[in-house]
Amino acid sequence: TRVHLIGAPTDVGASVRGCSMGPEALRVAGIAPALRQLGLEVQDQGNLAGPLALERASAHEPHHNLEEVVAWNRAVFDAVSLSLAEDAVPVMMGGDHCLAIGSISAVAAHCRREGKPLRVLWLDAHTDVNTEATSPSGNLHGMPVACLLGRGPAALSGWSGSAQAIRAQDIDFLGIRSVDPGERLAIRSFGLSVYDMRYIDEHGMRAAMTEALMDVDDNTHLHVSFDVDCLDPADAPGVGTAVRGGPSYREMQLCMEMIADTGRLGSLDVVEVNPALDVRNRTAEVAVELLQSLFGQSTL
Ligand code: ARG
Ligand code: MN
Ligand code: MN
Ligand code: MN
Repeated sequence: TRVHLIGAPTDVGASVRGCSMGPEALRVAGIAPALRQLGLEVQDQGNLAGPLALERASAHEPHHNLEEVVAWNRAVFDAVSLSLAEDAVPVMMGGDHCLAIGSISAVAAHCRREGKPLRVLWLDAHTDVNTEATSPSGNLHGMPVACLLGRGPAALSGWSGSAQAIRAQDIDFLGIRSVDPGERLAIRSFGLSVYDMRYIDEHGMRAAMTEALMDVDDNTHLHVSFDVDCLDPADAPGVGTAVRGGPSYREMQLCMEMIADTGRLGSLDVVEVNPALDVRNRTAEVAVELLQSLFGQSTL
């Protein structure tokens, strides 16, 4: 397998600055050698370029930094499209979670061309399904799923060649513990499949992942969108929107191992690593260890 590491040093979708330093933190934590150790052919393509975050013009901007988010996502869309066309597994190193609009739109277009079913696994404390109407913050990293479901601003829609890049049944959420009131309504009306922390507490990570991966078959392209704030902040303190009570390190390892077991991982986002808030790069290091499991490392 060929893996393309692609840095997207953006924090234009967030209000807490600093995850623009995420790609470098992942490199310093040894992401490339860690994956090479598993026998993968790893090419670090360096960083994409894009605009800086602007100061907030007013307290109530519906889409903060919209033009900047569009510019970053165009670059992400092009890079992921190219990488998939070259038969590689693109790993987007974020950067904030708004980049999933571009990456998953590119993956969706690729799957449509190849006639492959697409499954998205959204590992996150948040569902990121806000719209302009429901967002409490105006931050676009809280809205990528709504954009992909065809409920975003026009400038971020239709990139995959269809009004909806993904259908509600194509995505499963795991690790969720922070849902805004308007997001709760969206989850119900779309019928989104959400394995929240209560579900994981009651049934365990193994049962949750078994269900989430149930309809993955031999032909499926599996995209994992890994927001590192999914992890408990005790293990991953370097994030801008930390929420207490996430999966433990062990649970997250099992999650990654079970994805690896499908053999269907086709593309990946690793987002929201914020070195400015971290403790000695611990969050990037934990992310790299989890990626080793995701790419098939096992103890025995
Ligand atoms: N739900 C909140 C919002 O819309 C937080 C979103 C955090 N998203 C993230 N990718 N870290 O502002
Ligand atoms: Mn999150
Ligand atoms: Mn499902
Ligand atoms: Mn997120």
